[in-house]
Order: sequence, then structure tokens, then C-alpha cells
Amino acid sequence: QAPHTIRLAVIPGDGIGKEVVPEGLKVLDAALAGTGASIERTDFDLGAERWHATGDTLTDEDLAAIKEHDAILLGAVGDPSVPSGVLERGLLLRLRFELDHYVNLRPAKHYPGVPTPLTEPGDIDFVVVREGTEGLYCGNGGAVRVGTPHEIATEVSVNTAYGVERVVRYAFEQANARRQRLTLVHKHNVLVHAGHLWRRTVEAVGAEYPGVSVDYCHVDAATIYMVTDPARFDVIVTDNLFGDILTDEAGAITGGIGLAASGNINPDRAFPSMFEPVHGSAPDIAGQGIADPTATILAVALLLEHIGEPDAAARVSAAVDADMATRARANQEGGPLTRSTSEIGDAIAQALRA
Ligand code: NAI
Ligand code: MG
Repeated sequence: QAPHTIRLAVIPGDGIGKEVVPEGLKVLDAALAGTGASIERTDFDLGAERWHATGDTLTDEDLAAIKEHDAILLGAVGDPSVPSGVLERGLLLRLRFELDHYVNLRPAKHYPGVPTPLTEPGDIDFVVVREGTEGLYCGNGGAVRVGTPHEIATEVSVNTAYGVERVVRYAFEQANARRQRLTLVHKHNVLVHAGHLWRRTVEAVGAEYPGVSVDYCHVDAATIYMVTDPARFDVIVTDNLFGDILTDEAGAITGGIGLAASGNINPDRAFPSMFEPVHGSAPDIAGQGIADPTATILAVALLLEHIGEPDAAARVSAAVDADMATRARANQEGGPLTRSTSEIGDAIAQALRA
């Protein structure tokens, strides 16, 4: 492969974000060694410290600079010293909206031997394609007479034909490349306006993918199947709120937050896509060097896939598979491995170089 440079914007953020991101970068370097690709990275000091120092969450200058990159690796943002919502909305959601990350891709996979609350987990390996720019999260709402008995609060779910079609199309492409099963999750028996737009869109786009079988679940039933028969799912496509909730459940059944990765993707490539662990800044364990960097490392695999390095992505996934097998063996042979954040990163990076 010809030598080329990947411009990477790095936002470690707060708490354990600062601890797991270096491990992700370590693995990224190891995965690209010898491929001709190299990383040119820019660090952005966004997060709680910057907000305390300057009052900025994400300035227009930051945003313009970030847009000059091929991809973004984010740790996590949020800190108990900053009012809830300031960084989450002002930084994270602003990036997702400004960079038109209309696909929020969240794989869920159960690794053999990882403790799960399910007694018979079956073969859990699905991806949730969550719409990322519309629905209830787009900020269409307001409040009047706040704090009085006559307070009115609205949050309106916005669903456009354009917005639904582009994410549904992406989901069909994913299904086509996987096990050819797509499940639409909504609630069109009650949410008839948005629900039927989603249903009709899936029917119309599905006609172009005769090889993909299409299923539908109301979201409440989907939460049941996710614990009783998660192996039924291959690709789930759903709106912003349902996707947020279902992917937390998916994280729980697959054995935890330290393993769940996510991509905020602009498939049109008009703007850089952003890859991150699903978890937050974990103030309860920050500073101890015990956070599991695996979710971030799996986010790096998604990043590599997106920027056109599928071989490197596959090698990262394989190295994580092998590391998970090592953990499972240790569990069986007497006790869980106790490794620091950087020891896990080192082990996976070393496996890649071997
Ligand atoms: P959290 O995901 O940070 O932590 C929840 C629990 O999981 C904690 O007990 C934590 O110790 C544990 N945990 C999380 N990641 C782990 C890892 N890699 N290894 C081992 N254990 C891990 O969620 P929480 O506590 O609700 O939120 C903390 C802050 O993070 C808040 O400010 C929240 O708004 C923010 N947040 C940010 C996100 C982001 O940047 N994408 C996503 C979720 C929350
Ligand atoms: Mg969430």
C-alpha cells in the first residue's frame, strides 16, 4: 500500500477518557505498523478543564479545526464539577449534529467466557444502527412558565423522510454485508406519524435488497427479545431515543460497559466521523488506572474500517478476540486477571505486532 497520512483529531476529554484514549492510540499505531499508513494527530483539550478555564465547550474555531481531519477519536466527556448537560449537550451532541453524524453504529457481541446476566446468552452478535441527528434529541422543544404549577415543557420528535431514508439505507447495506437480517424497532401502533414513516421507508428501501429479510418489533417487545432471544438480531435500525436505550441494554447483556464501542458516522464523508467507547468518564474510578480500554480499542477498529483500512481493523478485532479468550481462560483457571488499563493496551498492541 502507498504511504499515506491519516489526520486524526483526538479528544481524550475527562476522567477515564484520558486513560483509555492513549491505549486506543497505542493499538492504532501497532495496527498500522508496516501498512504504509501513518497517523498525524492533533489533540483537542476539550472537556471540563477547558470549560473551567475559559467557559468554552466547543468554539467555532475548534469545530473548524476538527473538520480538517479524516476522523476523530473521543474518550468521554462529563465531570461532577460541571453542571449536568453542559458538556454532554454543548460538546458531544454539538459535534454529532454539526458533523452530521446521522448513523450511530453500536455493535453488540458477547465474547465466550465473559460474565453476562443471561443464563443462556446464545450467540449474541448484532449491530444497532441508531439514527443520530433527528428524533427526540434534536432540540426541538421548549418550556414556558418554568417552576410554576402551569409549567409547559415540550420535546418534539422530528423525523424527516430524508433523514429516515438515509439511515435505513445504511442499515440495509450493513445487513447485506452481515447475516442478511434487518429488524426495524419502533412503536408504530402508538407513534403512528413517525412510526409509519419509518415502516414505509423500510418497505420501500427493502424492495432494493431482496436478499435481506425484514422483521419488525415494537420497542417494548424488543427489550424483551433482547434478554430472551438476542441471537435473533443481526442489524437493528431505529430512532435516536430507542437506539440509545436499546444499546445500553445490549451493553448489559454482552457483559459490560468496558467492551462497548460506537461510531458516530457521516457515511457521505462530508465531515469526519467520530469513534468512541459507549461509556462515560467514570468519575468513580478515574485516576486509578483500572478502566478497561477495550471499548476504546474496539472503537479504533471501527475507525480503521471507516477510513479504508479494513485489514488493520480485522487484525484489531482478532487481537481483542484473543485477549478476551485469555481472560476467559484465567477466569476458569482460578481467578480473573487483574491488569491495569495500560497493561491491557500493551497486551493487545503486542499481539498485533507479533
Ligand atoms: P459511566 O459510563 O461513566 O460509568 C458507569 C459505570 O461504569 C461506573 O461505575 C464506571 O466506573 C463503570 N465504567 C465505565 N466505563 C468503564 C470502563 N472502561 N472500565 C471499567 N468500568 C467502567 O456513566 P455515568 O457514571 O453515568 O457518567 C459519568 C459521566 O460521563 C457523566 O458526566 C455523564 O454525563 C458522562 N457520559 C459521557 C458519555 C460520553 O462522553 N459519550 C457517555 C455517557 C456518560
Ligand atoms: Mg446512552
